[in-house]
Amino acid sequence: MLEIKNLSYEVQGEEGCLGILRDISLTIPDGKLVVVTGPNGGGKTTLARAIMGLVTPTAGQILWNGQDVTALGITQRAKAGISYAFQQPARFKGLRIGDLLELAAGTVLRHDEQCQYLTRVGLCANDYIDREMDASLSGGEVKRVEIATVLARRAPLMIFDEPEAGIDLWSFSQLTRTFRALHQEGDATLIIISHQERIIDLADDIVLLSQGRIAAQGPRGEILPRLLTDSSAPVERSCYGKKEAEYRG
Ligand SMILES: Nc1ncnc2c1ncn2[C@@H]1O[C@H](COP(=O)(O)OP(=O)(O)OP(=O)(O)O)[C@@H](O)[C@H]1O
Ligand SMILES: [Mg+2]
Repeated sequence: MLEIKNLSYEVQGEEGCLGILRDISLTIPDGKLVVVTGPNGGGKTTLARAIMGLVTPTAGQILWNGQDVTALGITQRAKAGISYAFQQPARFKGLRIGDLLELAAGTVLRHDEQCQYLTRVGLCANDYIDREMDASLSGGEVKRVEIATVLARRAPLMIFDEPEAGIDLWSFSQLTRTFRALHQEGDATLIIISHQERIIDLADDIVLLSQGRIAAQGPRGEILPRLLTDSSAPVERSCYGKKEAEYRG
């Protein structure tokens, strides 16, 4: 279980203190799929980075399976079973994609195992295993390889930051099926940051993050209708083909 208690992250801006995350409290039981959504700049990536240990919160606690991991760095958190697919993944010149998958898995993978991970993100595996994770890959390809490495890691807590970003429609369908299957297997807790209704549709629970605060959280059946219809709620509507993002309150 992941427990986030009164988490805040403040930075010193030109006009004083800036609250990027404000008093976030969240409990995610094992095996749940939680979608975090909300307007650009709402704090979603910062929250993911705080859970992964890339950002040190200025207040609050993060507990993973009862262990207080707030003071742990990224390596220790990875060892504790937390993994994160970046919104904007890095490229690694000189490393084959097959090597990256093995590094993530922490073991030697058979050729067919490497293929499976790439197929699950919609990549034609044989074309990619021996390619380098360098500038020759397109944005969407890098993004999908990054997701495949997180799948290969098989961590009990996986965080995906806008997995849809830059990914074509066909690969996105494959990715959606992969997330659904992963959730049905029930072995991992999944946090997916997303603006896409088809991803939000997979959620057990939805967290709406806006201006650094949790504006709404609860079961999908309760929150999704509000995201789609309630004009007084802080929602981002652009992904539903309606108005541009708007925030009130
Ligand atoms: N170190 C920092 N210094 C100043 N501002 C920061 C810092 N880190 C984050 N921010 C700001 O905090 C806000 C939240 O950023 P974050 O990347 O978490 O948003 P997000 O919800 O992931 O947005 P998006 O949907 O665009 O990915 C943004 O306005 C960002 O500019
Ligand atoms: Mg973000």
